[in-house]
Amino acid sequence: MAEKKIRTIAILTSGGDAPGMNAVIRAVVRAGIKNGLNVKGIERGYAGLLNEEIVDFSTESVKNIIERGGTMLYTARCAEMMHTSGQKRAAEILKDHEIDALVVAGGDGSFRGAETLAANGVKVIGVPCTIDLDIGSTDYTIGFDTAVNTAMEAVDKIRDTSTSHERCSIIEVMGRSAGYLALWCGIASGAEEILLPELYDGDEQAIIDRITESRQKGKKQFILINAEGVGHSASMARRIEAATGIDTRATILGYMQRGGSPTCRDRVCASVMGDMAVQLLLNGKYNRVVSLKDGSYTDFDIHEAASMTKELDEELIRIPYALKR
Ligand code: F6P
Repeated sequence: MAEKKIRTIAILTSGGDAPGMNAVIRAVVRAGIKNGLNVKGIERGYAGLLNEEIVDFSTESVKNIIERGGTMLYTARCAEMMHTSGQKRAAEILKDHEIDALVVAGGDGSFRGAETLAANGVKVIGVPCTIDLDIGSTDYTIGFDTAVNTAMEAVDKIRDTSTSHERCSIIEVMGRSAGYLALWCGIASGAEEILLPELYDGDEQAIIDRITESRQKGKKQFILINAEGVGHSASMARRIEAATGIDTRATILGYMQRGGSPTCRDRVCASVMGDMAVQLLLNGKYNRVVSLKDGSYTDFDIHEAASMTKELDEELIRIPYALKR
């Protein structure tokens, strides 16, 4: 039997928001409509899909959003999509609304949701959006550049006051169980120490020794970037202060890293990937995730993508040590 022609597509944003999600929505809506498709938006991710929170889009609906952080479609984490009953119902709702394909903008959890929909006969495309940069199938995830720049600027400010007071500062950045944000932010801000969940062995005494040594060398401040996956920044600060006698403060940057106007890199990547999602569907390719690999935009089968893992870049790990005073 001939494949049913795709006439109507929908887009949702899911999981933690990422700067650039709006640019993805804009690209999918504009590319879809220009190519003769109806485009709908599903609000509040999979939770909104299960509540049938579905809106019609025109090219006008997405004006003035490319520069805005957050997501105009709102987002949510949805426990029901973990269960087969929720997954089946979501697929049925899409069918009832005559939605022929769904674009999911989100992180790996959102892609897992998309995979279950694919298993229930829905045509899906995933667009990688997360500040964590932790999706195995792609070298870049939309939102990372904005978030890491936000974190870097915050660290620059903390360094000023840390130097004035000759303190040690522990600054915790997001990233869930991945250390990419911490590593990039740490290199970019010239941090004295970077703790990554992939590598940290829990040897706090070694850190204390390095802080003491650095103070003896006359360094006025000590900036330690701690990844969320290592955590415990406040108690670590108390222990370091007690052991070194150096005033130590902890700052958890938190959700500020997820907000703000997306950088040029995120807007461009989102525009390219959003357009790619539509082109894939128009070319009869579905159950794919779009990706930036080795400098080129490409796409992978969604199941194959799920099994791909990502290691921290060895060369980047080496840099903070190579550039130490
Ligand atoms: O995945 C993005 C992220 O911001 C992680 O860095 C963080 O661990 C998590 O989301 C926080 O999630 P929530 O918004 O549910 O608190």
